[in-house]
Amino acid sequence: MIYLDYVATTPLDEEIRSTYTKLLTTYFANSDSAYAPGYEVSRLIEQSRAHIAKLLHVSPDELIFTSCASESNNTAIKGTAFQYMNRGKHIITTAFEHSSVANTFKQLEEVFGFDVDYVSIDSNGHLDLKELESLIREDTILVSTMYVNNEVGTINPIHKIASIVHKKNPKTKYHVDMVQALGKLPITLDDIDLATFSAHKVFGLKGSGLLYKKRTASIIPLINGGQQENGLRGGTSNACVDIVLAKTMRKAIESQKNHYDYVKSLNDYLRVQLSAMDNVVINSPEDASPFILNISCPHYKPEVIVHDLETKGIYISTKSACSSKKVEISHTLAAMHLDPLIGTSALRLSFSHLTTKEELDTFLDALKDTLNRIKKQR
Ligand SMILES: Cc1ncc(COP(=O)(O)O)c(C=O)c1O
Repeated sequence: MIYLDYVATTPLDEEIRSTYTKLLTTYFANSDSAYAPGYEVSRLIEQSRAHIAKLLHVSPDELIFTSCASESNNTAIKGTAFQYMNRGKHIITTAFEHSSVANTFKQLEEVFGFDVDYVSIDSNGHLDLKELESLIREDTILVSTMYVNNEVGTINPIHKIASIVHKKNPKTKYHVDMVQALGKLPITLDDIDLATFSAHKVFGLKGSGLLYKKRTASIIPLINGGQQENGLRGGTSNACVDIVLAKTMRKAIESQKNHYDYVKSLNDYLRVQLSAMDNVVINSPEDASPFILNISCPHYKPEVIVHDLETKGIYISTKSACSSKKVEISHTLAAMHLDPLIGTSALRLSFSHLTTKEELDTFLDALKDTLNRIKKQR
């Protein structure tokens, strides 16, 4: 099998699997139980939180364990919106967010009456920072942007954005979805108010997410319950998942630079090879994250290509896995105002340190063969 869809998810790291299964057999007690096994589980969760805090250079009380990045995004955005709605109901995001952000903003607008503005992007997927600055008002309580786009890989200048947001309105909170940046780009949280992470994108467990919330940012909890997570997320802690997240994040952060350099060399190679093919257009800009390469084969149906490659044991995707059941052009490519012919024929390739040059060569041969055999659509 040649797996080129690491943005959708990653295989579980063997060391993480083995640690997790060992933890499961021993540490079943409820971390809130007032007896020794419960205290021990609680201690291990707090040890994990402290370890992650050290990796991210933040305080342990600024970290909330969640079930996934979608939950972290919902908690950050709705939690902030509900907390500060008496100050203002204006919130800003971009036109190319992951569905867990985009649909949260939509719900806040349609169900809760918030006033939402969307910052546009250009054909290279770069945000219009001047427009962002002009949109921030006295009643703007939240700005949310991703760090790395999950379809084309564009990198948002998050520290520049943080500076624009906080200069224009020091009370506005800035949330960043860092899911596709963890383990791939350096992470600095000094000027970020809230940040979202997911374990299964970095060889960790599914059902494991994290939300960073600066002490100076308050949120209304979405899941009311007990004292867990400082009262900000009720429900018995998913202890072993939370405990093993420290190892997952340590491995991702420690290997970031090496993995980046290696994957960049693969991406450079693939770009050269694909550029030489007549029926392939590269949609990801040159300065995008090397872990993602979005291409189009105009006049070909992307689903047909994906399924033909699948018969050869090669797995790629058409767009974000969370929107793969929708047939229309991806909202990211639409926001980039790509020619509809390009936008509707897009394919997403994504890589990791496990990807090899031999795999890319096999993929290239397979793609050429597929394009020669399948019918072009007019
Ligand atoms: C940028 C981004 N944000 C959020 C998510 C959601 O992650 P999770 O599956 O942990 O909810 C994804 C997953 O594809 C993503 O790519």
